[in-house]
Amino acid sequence: MSKQIQVSGLDAYYGAHKAIEDVSMTIEPRSITAFIGPSGCGKSTFLRTLNRMHEVIPGARVEGKVLLDGDDLYGASVEPVSVRRMIGMVFQRPNPFPTMSIYDNVAAGLRLNGRLPKSQLDGIVEESLKGANLWNEVKDRLTKPGAGLSGGQQQRLCIARAIAVKPQVLLMDEPCSALDPISTLAIEDLMAKLKDEFTIVIVTHNMQQAARVSDRTAFFNLAGQGQPGKVVEMDETSRMFTNPSQKATEDYITGRFG
Ligand SMILES: Nc1ncnc2c1ncn2[C@@H]1O[C@H](COP(=O)(O)OP(=O)(O)OP(=O)(O)O)[C@@H](O)[C@H]1O
Ligand SMILES: [Mg+2]
Repeated sequence: MSKQIQVSGLDAYYGAHKAIEDVSMTIEPRSITAFIGPSGCGKSTFLRTLNRMHEVIPGARVEGKVLLDGDDLYGASVEPVSVRRMIGMVFQRPNPFPTMSIYDNVAAGLRLNGRLPKSQLDGIVEESLKGANLWNEVKDRLTKPGAGLSGGQQQRLCIARAIAVKPQVLLMDEPCSALDPISTLAIEDLMAKLKDEFTIVIVTHNMQQAARVSDRTAFFNLAGQGQPGKVVEMDETSRMFTNPSQKATEDYITGRFG
């Protein structure tokens, strides 16, 4: 089930340092939203505020509102752990549990949620690996360690692990930056397929990738050294890449940045 995220007036801090300021945006369900912008402008920080991973860092805090289909993710009665289950995350470096088998990697999150009968677990593992376009490559070696897969396969394994718990949103922070072009295309194909079911947010430094895969794009930028990052503009990707309304966006997209 895919859900909408509505962010308003969001600031994120590391101690006294304000890393992002006054971010407001709507992230639509059943679509891919890309975050682009120069290094250090707060894309990863903002992504982590969307599933309450930011506050895990000592001294880090968030102000403002994040609503998931209208429900306040920072409400007093909300458990951060349940937010992270609803809003899954895939990181830059594939990080499967290295000594765990392929099967157990996918089952890991499900087991945290309680015991399931083996037949049901088998079904979800297969469905998740199929969903991540990995099943055919691993179905004969499910008991082998996850670390034995190629980088691209490991990243798809991490995606299978993330979707196994049926999140509503999938956050991906530069999921292809450690991958070769063929694995990158495999992940892009996969994202196009997953957006039927999940709300997807991807951070990428690759402009072609943002243009290829995303429906909407947000451009983040820093007003200056030591200043917090902000969203300069956000729109349909096709318009952002052909006719941005801000000069800073155009400069960044066309590589004339800095
Ligand atoms: N754990 C942390 N502790 C303190 N400051 C941090 C931490 N993580 C990030 N920052 C700071 O917050 C700001 C935003 O960093 P962030 O990693 O969100 O940027 P980014 O846009 O994802 O950059 P990149 O494109 O290089 O990944 C930077 O000034 C960074 O130094
Ligand atoms: Mg980052």
